[in-house]
Amino acid sequence: MAGNRTLTMIKPGAVKNGHIGAILNDIAAGGFKIVALKLTQLTKDKAGEFYAVHKERPFYGELVDFMSSGPIVAAILEKDNAVADFRTLIGATNPADAAPGTIRAKYAKSIGENAVHGSDSDENAAIEGAFHFSGTETF
Ligand code: RTP
Ligand code: MG
Repeated sequence: MAGNRTLTMIKPGAVKNGHIGAILNDIAAGGFKIVALKLTQLTKDKAGEFYAVHKERPFYGELVDFMSSGPIVAAILEKDNAVADFRTLIGATNPADAAPGTIRAKYAKSIGENAVHGSDSDENAAIEGAFHFSGTETF
């Protein structure tokens, strides 16, 4: 059975451009309940750890620099089938390919600065939730 939680980050570009409120509104309108939420900034080391799965990819350095370049909003979201439904709500990795109305289509600038992160599996959703939030910060 699919899990009911996923982890998102509103990335530095979208925070800087004033899209926190609009994106949280789209998340709520998509039927997701926020069960953990914070404004925070990743160090380079923590951004590298978060995206360690991409360590060998050519864009890794750029990704780590960007993700540590300013504040982000991290949140754990709850809904049936959360991981897959959230990836549908945000759209394709490259905003040029993202379906109209999706969060990336509306707020992303480029494949590198693509507005939001969404977990890619139930297992990673749990790991990423614990990366950002302690038990007392998660409801
Ligand atoms: P995310 O993990 O951030 O939710 O994004 P995703 O699953 O849709 O894409 P993924 O393959 O996991 O890639 C992670 C992030 O790396 C950046 N990226 N840049 N320049 C490039 O070709 C490239 N490819 C990926 C994106 O910011 C992507 O979200
Ligand atoms: Mg990913």
